[in-house]
Amino acid sequence: MSSRKARPADLPEVVLMERECPTAPQWSLAQLERDLASERCRLLVLEDAGRLCGFAALLVVLPEAELTSIVVRHGDQGRGLGQALLGRVRREAASLGCGKLSLEVSAANAAALRFYESAGFKAVGRRPKYYGDGSDAVLMDLAL
Ligand SMILES: CC(C)(COP(=O)(O)OP(=O)(O)OC[C@H]1O[C@@H](n2cnc3c(N)ncnc32)[C@H](O)[C@@H]1OP(=O)(O)O)[C@@H](O)C(=O)NCCC(=O)NCCS
Repeated sequence: MSSRKARPADLPEVVLMERECPTAPQWSLAQLERDLASERCRLLVLEDAGRLCGFAALLVVLPEAELTSIVVRHGDQGRGLGQALLGRVRREAASLGCGKLSLEVSAANAAALRFYESAGFKAVGRRPKYYGDGSDAVLMDLAL
């Protein structure tokens, strides 16, 4: 298993991976292509035996970075791959000079909340009824 920066050829597979996970952001190919070309974004992928199994996106606004997406392929979840990918995200953000990683997650996404808490993120705020399904957004931070 290894992580690396995303390449244009990865993006159609990333779209499919997000489609299989309804709680992922569901970005379009065009949006991912724009982000890949953006100076402010870092897109990372996780590969296992040459097969894409995870994706994460960072928006870097020094001295902070926002984790705007993290997804592990549906059939590969619960095997520690998310934790490995988050480790890579943390190293990437720290190497860019970020002192803090922030994110927002739906209060209805219990698995993701547990995942972030187990990685050390702390809830620092809440936006009521933020998402289309009426769920709150939980704002979380991690010091790097
Ligand atoms: C959230 C996500 C990235 C976690 O990746 P993962 O590879 O499944 O997680 P890991 O196997 O690395 O789990 C690490 C820890 O997270 C927690 N966790 C992960 N999945 C969980 C679940 N379904 N229920 C409860 N806790 C969970 C556990 O504490 C786990 O540690 P443990 O196995 O020692 O108990 C993955 O489930 C996913 O892609 N979900 C769909 C997309 C999404 O909702 N992304 C977040 C919003 S953008």
